[in-house]
Amino acid sequence: MFTRIHHVGIAVSDMEAALSLYGATAGAALLEREPSRDGTMEIAMLRLEEEGGGGLIELLSSRRADSAIGKFLERRGEGLHHLAFEVEDIEAALVRLKEEGYRLVDESPRPGAMNSRIAFLHPKGTGGALWELVEEAKERDS
Ligand code: CO
Repeated sequence: MFTRIHHVGIAVSDMEAALSLYGATAGAALLEREPSRDGTMEIAMLRLEEEGGGGLIELLSSRRADSAIGKFLERRGEGLHHLAFEVEDIEAALVRLKEEGYRLVDESPRPGAMNSRIAFLHPKGTGGALWELVEEAKERDS
């Protein structure tokens, strides 16, 4: 089962303005900012102060009009893009959800931010909200 809300993904048209909004105004600290693996998007992950319970916010901006976020911005404008749930075992979660009839965007996990592994479900099967599953990088003994 899902263990917690891992992060909230927000589509933004102006990354600098969004970083100021969620950084300076909301007080979240920038953890990582980098292009998506295919280079079509820019992704920034921010964390709220732990005293407030923590929580991650993922800002997504487009570098090309035909990227997933570019199309989303054109269709829906800026705003809430996806809800990411943490799971212990992403392969097991995908097998179970597929067996239960959910449509998977990703049949197998792909690399996510901060060495996590992620997979998306199709929003038509999840009440209109795009779901992302996240399995965080496991601590490895060195
Ligand atoms: Co995400």
